[in-house]
Amino acid sequence: MNSKDIVYVNGSFVPRAEARISVEDRGFVFGDGVYEVLRVVNGRPFAARFHNDRLKRSLEGVRISLAAGDSPESLTEIARQLLRENGLLEGEATMYMQITRGVATRAHNFPTPDVSPTIYISVARFAPYSDLARNGAPVITHPDLRWGRCDLKTLNLLPNVLASQTAKERGAFEAMLIRDGVVTEGTKTNFFGVVDGSLRTHPSDTHILPGITRSVLRDLARQVNIDLDETPILSDEIPRLSELFLTGTTTDVMPVVRLDDKPVGKGKPGELTKRLQKVLADSLASGGD
Ligand SMILES: Cc1ncc(COP(=O)(O)O)c(C=O)c1O
Repeated sequence: MNSKDIVYVNGSFVPRAEARISVEDRGFVFGDGVYEVLRVVNGRPFAARFHNDRLKRSLEGVRISLAAGDSPESLTEIARQLLRENGLLEGEATMYMQITRGVATRAHNFPTPDVSPTIYISVARFAPYSDLARNGAPVITHPDLRWGRCDLKTLNLLPNVLASQTAKERGAFEAMLIRDGVVTEGTKTNFFGVVDGSLRTHPSDTHILPGITRSVLRDLARQVNIDLDETPILSDEIPRLSELFLTGTTTDVMPVVRLDDKPVGKGKPGELTKRLQKVLADSLASGGD
């Protein structure tokens, strides 16, 4: 990331170093906002329709209204303009969009009268994790200490940040979160595992973020006749996992080969994982939807 990169803040295209928001922004004070991250391949945002739908749902879920004329689609269009401005129309990149409730004197209730939401959009060069994708990643288990609406992509990421930092300090790539004896998801990824031969993942409910990669992969799996059982993996079943992988916009399908310092299955990427990794890679390369 470069301070000269052009970013978008509230209607203006400015160098990153000159971008400003108020200290009274509710995103800063309360984490009162939502965000999206999209993958871009050769100037084309992958699965943009799914991301737009999820952003709309997140905004509705926290009751933030965009100004008339703004929409998830128009924000994606601004992000496309940023790709052009920053010379990122070729190769791999990401788009980041954040919307907060806006600027108001600190009070928990929504501001009255209404204030305009703050909109921040940026793009960045991206390099996929090719070594970990090939060889697999180490992961730790960690208690899921988050709130009751994990299905909304909000800025309130402190439990995710703390669990992710613990993973890093223990030499792991990600923390697999466990709530009440159930594997929910990762701090920034969804988890899939093979137990007694069947591929399982947590169903899409309020305990997990409905990952776009998760949805895309579910559709691709169906197309290649791989059954997916949306029954969560229980922590008691962890010793019986023969394969484990995580998914995300910036991680794709990443095999997990060690969990809490013990090998998963044979300790190398599993066959089903590698097949799914390939179908997702092909879909990304062909521009997706
Ligand atoms: C908590 C959580 N789960 C799952 C994901 C994966 O979602 P996606 O595939 O849309 O990147 C993310 C992405 O940031 C996340 O924050």
